[in-house]
Amino acid sequence: MLDSQKTERIAVTQYIGILTAGGDSPGLNAAIRAVGKAGMSAYKMQIIGFRDGFRGLMENRTVTLDSAALSGILTIGGTILGTSRDKPQKMPVGSKTMDMTDVMVETYHKHHLDALVCLGGGGTQKNAYHLMKHGLNIITLPKTIDNDVAMTDITFGYDTALTIATEAIDRLHSTAHSHHRIIVVEVMGHNAGWLALGAGIAGGADVILIPEIPYSVDKVAASIRQRVRDGRAFSIVAVSEGAVPLDSSEDILPAKSGKKNKAKSGTEPLTNTQKLTQQLEVLTGLESRVTILGHVQRGGIPTAADRLLATRLGAACADYIHEGIFGVMIAVRGETTEPVPLDQVVGKRKTVPLNHPWIHTARNLGINLGD
Ligand code: F6P
Repeated sequence: MLDSQKTERIAVTQYIGILTAGGDSPGLNAAIRAVGKAGMSAYKMQIIGFRDGFRGLMENRTVTLDSAALSGILTIGGTILGTSRDKPQKMPVGSKTMDMTDVMVETYHKHHLDALVCLGGGGTQKNAYHLMKHGLNIITLPKTIDNDVAMTDITFGYDTALTIATEAIDRLHSTAHSHHRIIVVEVMGHNAGWLALGAGIAGGADVILIPEIPYSVDKVAASIRQRVRDGRAFSIVAVSEGAVPLDSSEDILPAKSGKKNKAKSGTEPLTNTQKLTQQLEVLTGLESRVTILGHVQRGGIPTAADRLLATRLGAACADYIHEGIFGVMIAVRGETTEPVPLDQVVGKRKTVPLNHPWIHTARNLGINLGD
């Protein structure tokens, strides 16, 4: 672009909306701050935030993101804008579920927006793409602790969750060791194994079970019995929340256990992780406990790596808006970024490829992957 054209564009104030949708993720505030700060200082943009994801866009609930609003938020977890999993086309309104796309389009124009920045995971990319098809200038950033957004090297939020899950596994080691127990630790990640595999390797888990590799409970138990014969009477099993047993017949506890496939208190069906824990106790003779890390993995301050990543993406976002590049997700490519058309992102999920180097590393270390 010629310098004169650039100056001309900067002279015209651009109005930018921003929202965060889907599950919250460490680094969201760092990204909001970076879009705002870069947009305001480099390009004189004016930024407003919509509260609670696409719902705030529908209900026209906004907050002005000026310097004061963006100050001091870099290190804060969650999202100052709030979030929700509401979708434009299937919005719960009263007792009904309605397509509220047109109302959102109206809000966008009411604020004379030049662009709407949507920060989110796979679902958000899809919803943003939907609004793009209704004529809005959309630009998205990939965030999720699951690291499962297609077409980007990594998502922000992942590094923080990985750090938290790894620290949890570290802590579980000393108690498992002291009690000669199996501890099964369930890690988030939806249907992708990035978190369990990464934290399992970094935390030195003995078994790692991920959705991409259906597991045999018998094989897991055999590897733990071997560890006992080798003099290690404890084991850490890192299991992804989406991991599934290979054979549904393995869902059933061995008859001799005398235990029913039910949670100890109440009649709720057991989750795969709970079943696995009970099965391993029976099959190895070791006392077994389960720890479900849950939302603790999404909370609190982002790591330096996530702050840096979210800031890089946010600042790049202001550049792309200024250049008039819309209908894209800003993907991470090594140390740079690349705008990827949204139609290449939506409807895909980045799972762990079976030939991924981390899988190779785990196998070489003798970690049992359940197969
Ligand atoms: O996508 C992030 C994530 O934390 C997944 O790992 C998990 O399956 C899901 O969100 C939990 O969603 P919610 O917070 O709505 O229970």
